[in-house]
Amino acid sequence: MSTDGPGSSSFPVLVGARDAVIQAGRVVRSVNGRDVLVLHHQGSLHALDLHCYHSGGPLQCGDIEEFDGRLCIVCPWHKYKITLAEGEGLYQAVDPSIRPLRPVWSSKGVKQRVHRVTEVDGEVFVTLNDSDGTVESDRYQTEEYRAKVLKL
Ligand code: FES
Repeated sequence: MSTDGPGSSSFPVLVGARDAVIQAGRVVRSVNGRDVLVLHHQGSLHALDLHCYHSGGPLQCGDIEEFDGRLCIVCPWHKYKITLAEGEGLYQAVDPSIRPLRPVWSSKGVKQRVHRVTEVDGEVFVTLNDSDGTVESDRYQTEEYRAKVLKL
C-alpha cells in the first residue's frame, strides 16, 4: 500500500472489542499503514483519517457538533467542520444578492477520507476506503508527515 493514497489494502482490520471502543470513545489506530480515528458517538461508530485535511490537525481532540442537521467533527486547530458520515468540509457563506443577508451552510465536497466500520461478534473492524482519486486528507498519510509530527 502506498503511504500517500488509499492503496489496495481494503480488508477489515480489527480495532478492538466493541465495549472497549465505546468506553474509550475515541481510538487511534494504524490500519494498514494509515492513521485512522475510530470514534463512538450517539450509538454509532465512525472512522476517518486522523489528520485534518486542512493542515494536519489532530482530529482525535476535536469536538463533535451538529451543523445544518449533520454531525461533524470540529478540528481543534482552525475549527474546520468535517461531516462524520461523508468527510465533507462544511462552511457558512452569505450570498449578497439574497436579502436579508444570512449565512447558509454549504459543502466544499469530500475533503477527509472516511472508512467503513463493521462489527462482528462484539469486535470492531475498519476497512479502508480505497475509492479512486485523491482526497485532501491523503497528503497527511505519509512517513514524511508522521516524522514531522513526531518531532513536535
Ligand atoms: Fe484542521 Fe486547520 S488543521 S482546521
